Amino acid sequence: MGYMSNQQQLLSKIATDNGHGENSPYFDGWKAYDSDPYHPIENPGGVIQMGLAENQLSFDIIEEWLLKNPKASICTVEGMSEFRDVAIFQDYHGLREFRNAVAKFMGKVRGDRVVFDPDRIVMSGGATGAHELVTFCLADPGDAFLVPTPYYPGFDRDLRWRTGVQLLPVVCESSNDFKITREALEAAYEKAQEDNIKVKGLLITNPSNPLGTVMDRETLKSLVTFVNEKSIHLISDEIYAATVFSSPGFISVSEIIDEMECNRDLIHIVYSLSKDMGFPGFRVGIVYSYNDDVVNIGRKMSSFGLVSSQTQHLIASMLSDDEFVESFITKNSEKLATRYKTFSRGLSQVGIGCLKSNAGLFFWMDLRRLLKEPTVDAEMALWRLIINEVKLNVSPGSSFHCSEPGWFRVCFANMDDETMEVALRRIRNFVLKAKEKEVSAKRQPWQNNLKVRLSFRGLDGPHLMSPHSPVPQSPLVRART
Ligand SMILES: Cc1ncc(COP(=O)(O)O)c(C=O)c1O
Repeated sequence: MGYMSNQQQLLSKIATDNGHGENSPYFDGWKAYDSDPYHPIENPGGVIQMGLAENQLSFDIIEEWLLKNPKASICTVEGMSEFRDVAIFQDYHGLREFRNAVAKFMGKVRGDRVVFDPDRIVMSGGATGAHELVTFCLADPGDAFLVPTPYYPGFDRDLRWRTGVQLLPVVCESSNDFKITREALEAAYEKAQEDNIKVKGLLITNPSNPLGTVMDRETLKSLVTFVNEKSIHLISDEIYAATVFSSPGFISVSEIIDEMECNRDLIHIVYSLSKDMGFPGFRVGIVYSYNDDVVNIGRKMSSFGLVSSQTQHLIASMLSDDEFVESFITKNSEKLATRYKTFSRGLSQVGIGCLKSNAGLFFWMDLRRLLKEPTVDAEMALWRLIINEVKLNVSPGSSFHCSEPGWFRVCFANMDDETMEVALRRIRNFVLKAKEKEVSAKRQPWQNNLKVRLSFRGLDGPHLMSPHSPVPQSPLVRART
């Protein structure tokens, strides 16, 4: 106590306000995994990490390209001639060829239906840095952004911690597959006004983390209309743009603003190569703003989080290879589709439902029927059971600010096929066993000794239906994802 208050006097408010959010119960899952990680031979009973929205399915394609293109790296015999120029480069505009290649890649991922201007590409340290950078440009401490729920928990850190900005939830519900409605937006906006909070913008994630769904054209248009009417900003996080693996296809906000009247100064896209290429370690983040001032100021601010010139150089070469990019995008989405199908089929066979989805690196799994009661406490109890006994680290919906307890995000692209089979088997066994226990408890109620009572409302009989099956992605954050 004395020590803490001394620390608090010694350090800044930011340093001591726990704005990083790592003291949440969500991180217990990470700790459980770290202390007992699954290994097929050395620790087959360990925890499988399904809380990490990483794309490790396509590294073979990337590695093949790297072997064929040794010149792209400045630390090879073939690339050494460029070593000096790249090593001293530190201009916050970024390498011209890097910006060109990223702009082209962003267009390609959107089916070449939009063209991105390389001069609007502002670099940052991952989407994490990009979100903070754009927040610094748009809002003052105390101002707020509306964010539809459920949302990526890292936003609570990235947009709020150092900027002093607030996030206000726009409550979305499962009754319409968590679509954002005008009513929900208005309600959140009005509440902010009643509370005297200045709303500076709306932050969306499309495709969604944790839902794995894409937004339809109508919804996007209504969001653009909303921000125009209120004269607030729209930040569209499109970090999962190339993870769409079946129809409907991805529609970027950049397409929508070409189709309707809109004040482009309000529109900003956040992007990164962490998910689409599977490079979270490279920290390639992008702010693409249609607002000239944000581009100019953001570029100066990007000095605080530049992408290293070595990475820019490599990415520039890789993404300028049209044939590679084309084939990577196609093969990557095929791999995600296969993984999704295997997983969703395996879950649906034992009656586990998931939100229907077609993008991302995860499913949004519906375990509401397994809750003893529809509360966050019951969700956390079930979550602890899944970590401690089933030995899977999935992420509870409450960490994504989901308004309905019982949803869990399950990442499926950060493991090999064998590990996925083990994970699937574990979930299925858990559900089947819990069902058996429930049945026998009904017959002999005095023998009920379940540690956590699972109600299984509806898991028998007609409800053994075909759940949709989505899989979700990115976790609350740890620096790793
Ligand atoms: C929606 C969303 N935005 C941003 C991030 C952060 O990405 P980066 O690794 O590029 O900082 C993540 C990572 O999980 C995410 O899911």
